Amino acid sequence: MDNLIGLVNRIQRACTALGDYGGEGAVQSLWESLPTVVVVGGQSSGKSSVLESIVGRDFLPRGSGIVTRRPLVLQLHKTDDKVDYAEFLHMPRKKFTDFGAVRNEISEETDRITGRSRQISPVPIHLSVYSANVVNLTLIDLPGLTKIAVEGQSDTIVGDIENMVRSYIEKPNSIILAVSPANQDIATSDAIKIAREVDPEGERTFGVLTKLDLMDKGTNALDVLEGQAYRLQHPWVGVVNRSQQDINKNVDMIAARRRERDYFAQSPDYGHLASRMGSEYLGKLLSKQLEAVIKARIPSILAMINKSIDEIETELNQIGRPLANDAGAQLYTVLELCRSFDRIFKEHLDGSRPGGEK
Ligand code: GDP
Ligand code: NA
Ligand code: MG
Repeated sequence: MDNLIGLVNRIQRACTALGDYGGEGAVQSLWESLPTVVVVGGQSSGKSSVLESIVGRDFLPRGSGIVTRRPLVLQLHKTDDKVDYAEFLHMPRKKFTDFGAVRNEISEETDRITGRSRQISPVPIHLSVYSANVVNLTLIDLPGLTKIAVEGQSDTIVGDIENMVRSYIEKPNSIILAVSPANQDIATSDAIKIAREVDPEGERTFGVLTKLDLMDKGTNALDVLEGQAYRLQHPWVGVVNRSQQDINKNVDMIAARRRERDYFAQSPDYGHLASRMGSEYLGKLLSKQLEAVIKARIPSILAMINKSIDEIETELNQIGRPLANDAGAQLYTVLELCRSFDRIFKEHLDGSRPGGEK
């Protein structure tokens, strides 16, 4: 069985490439039916840092204040290539091997839509990362939840961000990565508050506790990490990301991961939980969960794919063949992909039915 997440990633990419051509309808709803991991939390809670640790690369704008101002749809593709690279949907022919340049492009592309203001925009940036060291995963980074508008922002920004976040996490197929900093009371967590609204039973919410290293001396977060403070169906994962000082000093990701591992292994408070803590563990956990969700949803994804095949065929028939333009070519690509998924998913279904083993 080929990797399910990898397959779903490919449909997602084909759909988003097509989005620009107005192939809305079928393609848009197909995209939305595919499961993704959505990262939510208050401003500066460490969302972008968590994402970077999962990817194991340094490539996101980070810092205090509202840095993430557009949704970032990040697709991770596991490859056998020796060299890691990244591609933006808005620059289809450019391969980035310098991840510092990826960060600059995210900032610039953010400004292209929002101006150099502190406004936010719901128009997503699509980025794919290809690496031998990632797990297949689609993650969405969102602007942080805030309580008040600051200089240069409209009064509606607080509600606008909340609505944007909600629109992503209310989809039953989304996995919510709720990021809360350990140096604030969990009872005041913006992430937990909004996650609870759309997922009251905590069935698809993963609690991530950042900044464990910044807690007051003599205190610890065991009540949260052990699930007593706020219970979710999935266990909480604690992480230690790089501090702003580490970032300024260019502490690299490999060193940061090693330090994070040591932190848990040597911690008198968390040592007994060490095997279930840290960004590496979180990445694997999410990948496994995403695969499980996809498997559970194969029948509905299949139905959606078949609906898309029908609609795309109708659309193609209306345009008439042969098609010279890009839009037509893209439609064919999606159609071909949908057909092969239809086949692969059906095979998978047969294989998983009792007595269906080949
Ligand atoms: P976001 O606004 O939620 O995306 O947060 P960022 O990832 O941009 O992080 C905000 C700031 O907190 C940055 O300066 C990070 O270096 C810092 N930070 C994030 N996580 C941790 C952590 O676990 N420990 C420490 N010491 N600093 C962190
Ligand atoms: Na920030
Ligand atoms: Mg951010």
